[in-house]
Amino acid sequence: MHIRPKPWAKQELKEARFFMDEPKLYYNRWQEAFDATRPMYLELGCGKGSFIAWIARQFPQYNFLAIDLIDAMLGLTKRKIEETCGKHPGNVRLTAYDITRISDILGEGDPIEGIYIHFCNPWPKTRTWKKRLTHPRQLVQYKTFLKPGGFIRFKTDNPDLYAVSKKYFREESFALSFDCDDLYRFLEDTPTGHPFEHNIATEHETMFHHQGMAIHAVEAIKQ
Ligand SMILES: C[S@@+](CC[C@H](N)C(=O)[O-])C[C@H]1O[C@@H](n2cnc3c(N)ncnc32)[C@H](O)[C@@H]1O
Repeated sequence: MHIRPKPWAKQELKEARFFMDEPKLYYNRWQEAFDATRPMYLELGCGKGSFIAWIARQFPQYNFLAIDLIDAMLGLTKRKIEETCGKHPGNVRLTAYDITRISDILGEGDPIEGIYIHFCNPWPKTRTWKKRLTHPRQLVQYKTFLKPGGFIRFKTDNPDLYAVSKKYFREESFALSFDCDDLYRFLEDTPTGHPFEHNIATEHETMFHHQGMAIHAVEAIKQ
């Protein structure tokens, strides 16, 4: 995703109490970063932050950590969280880190209930596949902190990434508990009783949906 630099982002992030600028310090002790211990969820590649801001507001009984790499994105997410959840939210934290090295910052001592991955880069060229956030190299890392029975909820507009990600999940022994190639058509007929019943649209999702593109959605469960 291309985004213009936001010269204000670095300073604002530094000043926000919910931005964790040294994520390695929280390895195996992420619960200490929040105002209370609660079941914890991750969003990987949060982009401009609509999803994390709304889910944190909707579910104050859970803790949420959102990770991205780009300051401009993180700056927008920081502002979105403040608008939606207030200046000092207790249940949401934000950090900057390269998710391909996520094992540096989260370990077995950080049990995670669920991971959200939305519209991650498809990395179509063979030599870049390893950078996909659903690649087995990533899933192996997620399995160290994702609890047994924990989920990965994945949405994409990209048919190839959708297909190959399901293969990756199976290769890493995840069970596919939900699989839908057109989420919005499905939601019209089946609004409740499935993992995406409280679907919160991300920025990319809104854009692709308005362009008439199908949104593919999968839930994979760690066995
Ligand atoms: C295509 S955007 C999608 C953003 C958002 N999830 C959405 O659906 O609107 C992908 C996001 O993932 C972030 N990202 C990609 N690779 C990453 C990595 N290895 N580590 C951290 N963030 C990454 C990008 O900076 C970008 O914000």
